[in-house]
Amino acid sequence: MTEQKATNVTWHNGEVTRADRFNRLGQKGVTIWFTGLSGSGKSTVAVALEKALHSLGKLSYRLDGDNIRLGINRNLGFSSEDRTENIRRIGEISKLYCDTGIITLNSFISPYREDRAQVRRIHEEGGYNFIEVHVNCSLECAESRDPKGLYKKARAGEIKNFTGIDDPYEAPESPEIVLNTDTMSLEEEVEAILSYLQEQRYLILYR
Ligand code: ADX
Repeated sequence: MTEQKATNVTWHNGEVTRADRFNRLGQKGVTIWFTGLSGSGKSTVAVALEKALHSLGKLSYRLDGDNIRLGINRNLGFSSEDRTENIRRIGEISKLYCDTGIITLNSFISPYREDRAQVRRIHEEGGYNFIEVHVNCSLECAESRDPKGLYKKARAGEIKNFTGIDDPYEAPESPEIVLNTDTMSLEEEVEAILSYLQEQRYLILYR
């Protein structure tokens, strides 16, 4: 838990409530957190899901590891401390998105179980929903895809601390959804998430 540094700061409430915002959008905010190896398909599923949600009239927004590391988290690298801080900041940001009523799609390796648990905690303590999706793919499969050529570089020793090669990945123990991307098609993956959202009543009109 990151300690509170600033003192003499207090939360200031507005006059428009979370329910008012959800009502205005006709939907409920939720964080969908995709975790998995580099090349497992996190971003690909998030992009396809965003498109499907958009055609259903739902507002969603993607936060993606590479994109975020080119902006707000440009001062972070891949040490365990930096990865933890990366996930902590994104957790806080997606909590804000949830509060606005947006369906937030987060694609981050997020290799440490405790970091993901912490993000879940801050959501649940604030009364926000958190859905963990394990984008499960064997290392062999991710490495054979190698969309950015990074596994090749890591094997050649040109990238240090690469997840799955010389850095750990702690798979989730009880995620809400598991997508086995070695064998499932992209359509099946999107369908699995949409079915879950239907069952949990995230896609009904919020009134
Ligand atoms: S996380 O571990 O802190 O969650 P994040 O998802 O933000 O990582 O970023 C991972 C992306 O950064 C990978 O998809 C890859 O493109 C790139 N990358 C560069 N170096 C590394 C590394 N050492 N380990 C993992 N990914 C890396």
